Amino acid sequence: MSFELITGSQSSKEEQYKSLLSQIASIISDEKNFIANLANITSALKYSIEGFLWVGFYLKEIDKDELVLGPFQGRVACSRITFGKGVCGASAVKKETIIVEDVDKFSGHIVCDALSKSEIVVPVIINNKVVGVLDIDSDKLGNFDKIDKKYLEELITNTSFLFGHEKK
Ligand code: SME
Repeated sequence: MSFELITGSQSSKEEQYKSLLSQIASIISDEKNFIANLANITSALKYSIEGFLWVGFYLKEIDKDELVLGPFQGRVACSRITFGKGVCGASAVKKETIIVEDVDKFSGHIVCDALSKSEIVVPVIINNKVVGVLDIDSDKLGNFDKIDKKYLEELITNTSFLFGHEKK
């Protein structure tokens, strides 16, 4: 399988996302294993878009309002986050994407990597229930904007069927 990245300086963030989304669609069309697909999505994100320090999924525990660490790219992270705690837990409760321009100013932010300066969390929602979140940290302040929100939500919408652990 080849995976050609359009990177940084030669292209806009929108172009990077458009290329990334079509390549992720291709990667997951070849494979039905849930873990393999989520792992490749995190890698594709981290190495396609500039400024991503940590990219990973937290998955909701069955019968518990708790998120547990799933496939990720980056440094060791906390394994469990209760709903309502941190940016991930807040996103899971609100069922909304949260952009944090400066993590030091988000009350209750959970520090996993001290280099992280800004963050975006996109919830994965199936049948109005949160089944996980996509969490991305950057080492740059204010790295995330409405372009990230638009394309990451599109990515999650297009891939949420994976969370049924079966191919569409
Ligand atoms: N900062 C997150 C915790 C997860 S790490 O960033 C990987 C939060 O506040 O929920």
